[in-house]
Amino acid sequence: MRRKSRDLFNLVKEKEIPEHIAIIMDGNGRWAKKKRLPRIAGHRKGVEILRDVIETASELKVKHLTLYAFSTENWKRPKPEVDALMSLLVEFFNKEIDELHMNKVKIQAIGDISKLPEKAKAATIQAINKTKENNGLQLNIAINYGGRAEIVRAIKAMIQDVHSGNLSIDSIDQDLISDYLYTKGIPDPDMLIRTSGEYRISNFLLYQIAYTEFVFTSSDVLWPEFNRERFLESILEFQGRKRRYGGLSSKGDK
Ligand code: IPE
Ligand code: IPE
Ligand code: MG
Repeated sequence: MRRKSRDLFNLVKEKEIPEHIAIIMDGNGRWAKKKRLPRIAGHRKGVEILRDVIETASELKVKHLTLYAFSTENWKRPKPEVDALMSLLVEFFNKEIDELHMNKVKIQAIGDISKLPEKAKAATIQAINKTKENNGLQLNIAINYGGRAEIVRAIKAMIQDVHSGNLSIDSIDQDLISDYLYTKGIPDPDMLIRTSGEYRISNFLLYQIAYTEFVFTSSDVLWPEFNRERFLESILEFQGRKRRYGGLSSKGDK
């Protein structure tokens, strides 16, 4: 570990570690363009750097890391790019699963994985099954995920349960809605990072981010450049925030 990164790690470690970090990994295409490479080279590099991010989160004892890998809107991209992204997902699991498993990482998917190409679906299910007993970092990979699609799915499931007599309308409250989402059992993200200078949510975790702290990097930091130091700096920024949840700061705070 380089010195700066070790100092940063220690600084972060002294303060409260976010329990759940969500990341919109954006800017792969622009990174590739900057380097005069095909877009897919940006995606490849973006997957490679995941290793550092996952390892750092594990070392910090973050409980949940949720990564936006493919949105319900990303199907609009040219087929060769979609195919390449799906192949990279398979490659990621093939290459990394043993080490992830050894490090007790538990893999979960959020999103409608039933619509994935066969190989990508099989690799995802295999990774989930292999790591399901692990008690380390829970890595939630959002694949074919969209916040609005998730809410539609939840509403349909709730109505079905009401019809079948398994749910009474009176018992519907905010926590129950959470339980109908893909993220059932996962606490809401404490912080959400988006790289590449895009200041939007792009349909990610809409219900879950009500009180999440946002950390947006400038356009100088594209996802393939998001290294351990930048990750630690983002967490440090989060640790400097005062969360109020609509109430007042505790005594002594400004
Ligand atoms: C993020 O990078 C990766 C995915 C959406 C899968 P982009 O591919 O969106 O990169 P830019 O935004 O075009 O630079
Ligand atoms: C969001 O990035 C989706 C992922 C990172 C997987 P996009 O690049 O698809 O979002 P927009 O199109 O800029 O909003
Ligand atoms: Mg993008």
